[in-house]
Amino acid sequence: MSRQVQVLDQFSRPLRDLRVSVTDRCNFRCQYCMPREVFGPGFKFLPHAEVLSFEEIEVVVRVLLRLGVTKVRLTGGEPLLRRELPSLVAKLAQLPALGDLAMTTNGLLLSRFAGALAESGLHRVTVSLDSVDPGVFSEMNGVGANLQSVLDGIEAAVAAGLGPVKLNCVVRRGLNDDGIVELADFARRRGHVLRLIEYMDVGESHGWRLDEVVPSAEVIARISARWELQPVPPLYPGEVATRFRYRDGTGEVGVISSVSTPFCGGCTRLRLAADGQLHTCLFSRGGLDLRPVLRGGGGEEELASLITGLWRQRRDRYSEERSRQSEPGGPKVEMSYLGG
Ligand code: GTP
Ligand code: 5AD
Ligand code: SF4
Ligand code: SF4
Repeated sequence: MSRQVQVLDQFSRPLRDLRVSVTDRCNFRCQYCMPREVFGPGFKFLPHAEVLSFEEIEVVVRVLLRLGVTKVRLTGGEPLLRRELPSLVAKLAQLPALGDLAMTTNGLLLSRFAGALAESGLHRVTVSLDSVDPGVFSEMNGVGANLQSVLDGIEAAVAAGLGPVKLNCVVRRGLNDDGIVELADFARRRGHVLRLIEYMDVGESHGWRLDEVVPSAEVIARISARWELQPVPPLYPGEVATRFRYRDGTGEVGVISSVSTPFCGGCTRLRLAADGQLHTCLFSRGGLDLRPVLRGGGGEEELASLITGLWRQRRDRYSEERSRQSEPGGPKVEMSYLGG
């Protein structure tokens, strides 16, 4: 395999982004992702033997770079719980076709790892931050984790050169929606890029309800009541965030509206779960298992043809079809397993 090819799915969407979940474990229990009632002490996470090694992940990424991927994001669970993560970063960062190597983290362990990640070649980080109110933050992360540790992690990332840092906030009515202007103020003052995300019905475990979703239009109305905003045109079709610039020149803010304004039409994302299953949608009910090929002596050519076949058949547009709730095919997989 030599040249880079472009593979299109059934709706002519190319394959561009890969999200790699390096672990299904997390040190938080956010209610909207890993509720404690479900992910309690008895929960069976993936056994070590089923989790892809860094060498196996590197092989998959190499193949995908040949198939058009230019952007890789490391996710979890919480990626910093994976031992030696900087050494995976170092392996991936030296792959020539990789234009963008990012990571999404909850930030709790970021002060400890920011320097090593930057030295290993990570380009940037996104930190989940649902509130800058210590009480609300502690309640939403489900384990009483301390806000200051995450804020220190964000500062460490900036100091290590991993900025500008993006901040992801999942907005839930009645929980943290009162704090979004305060959060925006924090992000503006520190030079971070805040993105406010509509609470989604990913997975099966959190009892999602539409009335807890705060539509992005309302979020933008609340922020623009305080500061004047100007829409920024999308950088590429199907961009996840809809962006706005503060008229006073203090950066930008984005909203991610997958419930009120789905963006499946331009979705170029493929997801690799920690156990080697490839999923073509965040709301997937089943994946393509790459482990038999990876561990059975199959080469890169075999992987490339399997993945090409998978992408060519792809018809996913879950967020656009959300009204058709009861689809066949078993339960949806969890976000903590597949990555955000
Ligand atoms: P950049 O690489 O910085 O541009 O990131 P991004 O804009 O792709 O956003 P990011 O990967 O940080 O995703 C932010 C959030 O958007 C995720 O945590 C999800 O909540 C949501 N999201 C991302 N990708 C998808 C997707 O393919 N479908 C849906 N429905 N939601 C998504
Ligand atoms: N709705 C929207 N986003 C979610 N995330 C996790 N669960 C949900 C959900 N139910 C996203 C958040 C977090 C990332 C790891 O996953 O953006 O920052
Ligand atoms: Fe929260 Fe992220 Fe952990 Fe899910 S993976 S519980 S969103 S910190
Ligand atoms: Fe892509 Fe599926 Fe999200 Fe639509 S719902 S944007 S197809 S991952």
